[in-house]
Amino acid sequence: MTEINLGRPNPKQVLFLKDKHKHVGFGGARGGGKSWAVRAKAILLAFNYPGIKILIVRRTYKEVIQNHIEPLMAVLNKTCKYNKSENVIRFPNGSKIMCGYCNNDQDVWQYQGNEYDVIFLDEATQLKEEWIKKIAASCRGANDFPKRIYYTCNPGGQGHGYIKRIFIDRKFETNENPDDYVFIQSLVTDNKVLMEKDPDYVKFLESLPRVLREAWLNGRWDVFEGAFFEEFRVTPDPQLCADNNLTVEEALKEGAYTHVIKPFDIPRNWKVYHSYDWGYGKPFSCDWWAQDFDDNLYLILQLYGCTGVPNEGLKWSNEEQFKEIHNIESSHKWLMGRKIYGPADPSIWDGSRGISAAETADKNGVYFEPGVNDRIPGWMQVRERMKFDEYGHPKIYFFDTCKDAIRTIPLMMFDEHKIEDMDSDLEDHFCDSMRYMCMYRPIPPRDIKSNTKPYYDPLNQFK
Ligand SMILES: Nc1ncnc2c1ncn2[C@@H]1O[C@H](COP(=O)(O)OP(=O)(O)O)[C@@H](O)[C@H]1O
Ligand SMILES: [Mg+2]
Repeated sequence: MTEINLGRPNPKQVLFLKDKHKHVGFGGARGGGKSWAVRAKAILLAFNYPGIKILIVRRTYKEVIQNHIEPLMAVLNKTCKYNKSENVIRFPNGSKIMCGYCNNDQDVWQYQGNEYDVIFLDEATQLKEEWIKKIAASCRGANDFPKRIYYTCNPGGQGHGYIKRIFIDRKFETNENPDDYVFIQSLVTDNKVLMEKDPDYVKFLESLPRVLREAWLNGRWDVFEGAFFEEFRVTPDPQLCADNNLTVEEALKEGAYTHVIKPFDIPRNWKVYHSYDWGYGKPFSCDWWAQDFDDNLYLILQLYGCTGVPNEGLKWSNEEQFKEIHNIESSHKWLMGRKIYGPADPSIWDGSRGISAAETADKNGVYFEPGVNDRIPGWMQVRERMKFDEYGHPKIYFFDTCKDAIRTIPLMMFDEHKIEDMDSDLEDHFCDSMRYMCMYRPIPPRDIKSNTKPYYDPLNQFK
């Protein structure tokens, strides 16, 4: 018989390979050796239980081919046969490994009515809870083979809430037996082979923005539950002040560790811009920004309200909005006599339903340029500006008179499905407008010397 060399599992993978619970969660971070463990376990089961039916699922067909079928066949090609049209690997003892995908509500039907003894959901958090449950329901059969479901996972993704509930929080419903569930954490640091072969991968994880780094490098499941702009401070954080040997009063006096400040008169030689997010039946946000000679931005004025019918607030047509914007720009002492321009929601140039909002703005003497709408880089720019330097200063400030900005920034949350992004179902109009502004005047990442004054990590308290 041909010998098959699987290699050596690391200690976390050994725990995974030996576990006999009905539901086994594994990983919880990037690069922890999850897919490797899935392939090794599937092969071991196939040889140990002649005739067993095993299913491996990934979100997409391409992923299941690249992560499973190709590496499995590289090891098994002398022993097993792969049928491409059925996506099945057949073993000489009658065992089968079926490889599937589930990328939408229709795909899940192919598993309905089928029976599998062991199911592997690789990157289960990328699947919807409903799909996971439907696929898991086909783990059954009137035979003596073990019946198990293995879930490998990273924090984030559509199944985040479900996987976190059953494996991390262990909050079970009445039909779930807690003794059936176990979670084995494996981080990239547990995967010695990868650490040695590809140290750049760890460097990549270390270089990610803090929230993603905490999730994917350190396996933290709670980071997406916090506020999207965790760095935003209306008043100086007492802990942050204490860490830097300041009282809150001293910090306030120095203008340190806060983004919200008292208004002051804008010097004539500073630049002033406006940014705009359009709304129909939901608020619009027109925001005026001053820029000093150090490239700091100050939100100095805001006109915030609602067009269309349903909501509270200003119920203004485009015409009425731009008239008022023009009015403010030609009468307010900080604005009058200036040529004001700046970015706006690019969708206002869409004229497919008649005269575009941009045209109406133009007609009323309000001038915008299409804003850059790359959301993730845009949020990175906002964060970069919000970050405090070693002296406690950010690069974006908000006059305390801009109530709707200050009210809505702390309300923003992470998107459940696209975790690096903001949930766009919230009242995000000012934040979108701020994002266009920050992309309009982008700044390079600042090299903040954290050793002179430590940067307080508010999430440390959860550790
Ligand atoms: N026990 C092992 N022996 C040899 N290589 C391994 C082992 N575990 C993981 N690897 C390798 O480490 C890399 C990352 O592992 P992988 O299983 O793809 O991680 P994950 O699925 O958690 O992202 C891959 O190149 C994989 O082949
Ligand atoms: Mg993997």
